[in-house]
Amino acid sequence: MKVLALMGSPRNNGSTYMAVEMVEERLREMGEIEMEYVHLKDMDLGECIGCHACIHLGEAHCPVDGDRGEIEKRMLGADALILASPVYSLGVTSLVKKFLDRFSYCFHRPRFFGLPVLAIATAAGAGQKASSHLMADCARFWGCAPVYTVELPKLDLNLTDAHREKVLRTLRGAAEKIFRATQCSGPPRPAFRDLVAFRVWRDLAANSEPDSADHVHWRDRGWLEADYYYPTSIPGYYRLSLRLIEGLMRRYSGRVYGDA
Ligand SMILES: Cc1cc2nc3c(=O)[nH]c(=O)nc-3n(C[C@H](O)[C@H](O)[C@H](O)COP(=O)(O)O)c2cc1C
Repeated sequence: MKVLALMGSPRNNGSTYMAVEMVEERLREMGEIEMEYVHLKDMDLGECIGCHACIHLGEAHCPVDGDRGEIEKRMLGADALILASPVYSLGVTSLVKKFLDRFSYCFHRPRFFGLPVLAIATAAGAGQKASSHLMADCARFWGCAPVYTVELPKLDLNLTDAHREKVLRTLRGAAEKIFRATQCSGPPRPAFRDLVAFRVWRDLAANSEPDSADHVHWRDRGWLEADYYYPTSIPGYYRLSLRLIEGLMRRYSGRVYGDA
């Protein structure tokens, strides 16, 4: 089992690294794993210039490119993904934000189905939740599932034994969840919010230019007529609520953007 850890700290051996190492240790106890640490600071992430080429024309048209394609290849080849960031100014580091921005086309054209993710944020005191949830939300939009979050204090301080024990328990528990997720056959059943998100993006893709990257991607995969990115059973009461939400969504978008 291959685990890819995308490390968002500019420091190699700080708290964030210590946290991921503890996850690795538990994973190794449970099975044979190949762990790859990719320090985002060592990658050429470039800087998104806001041209929208990746979204409208396709990621191959990105004028910045750098190591984006290489990182995506490694993510596609992984059985589990760890996204780890220290908190800087109440959010993820600029390295992580750059990485997330460079993968924005995956909101439109998700691809990491069935890839379990653990999002870890470490901080001196505040901002862990905003940071771990930002990484987790992006991962969900990109198709990853299941997605877990962990929020931690700085680990290079003199934590009390009780607190260190608590951190260790949290990280070991997270490692167990990730490991179990890799043992499931096929991607998990989507949550209601995933089904709603699918319908939002399906409408956008259906209404985009027929030769746009989104339209072609969705059409070629049969998603424009599908219930979800992959076959899954949707309970009747979900279907009813989804139809209602879709109607409201179209009315809202008609009011704001005009009818397509
Ligand atoms: C520029 C900078 C900004 C920071 N901002 C915050 C913050 O907003 N909230 C917080 O609790 N800790 C903040 N911290 C502390 C780090 O989140 C904390 O030390 C973290 O564990 C460092 O991770 P690392 O050792 O992996 O680099 C900041 C640290 C730096 C260097």
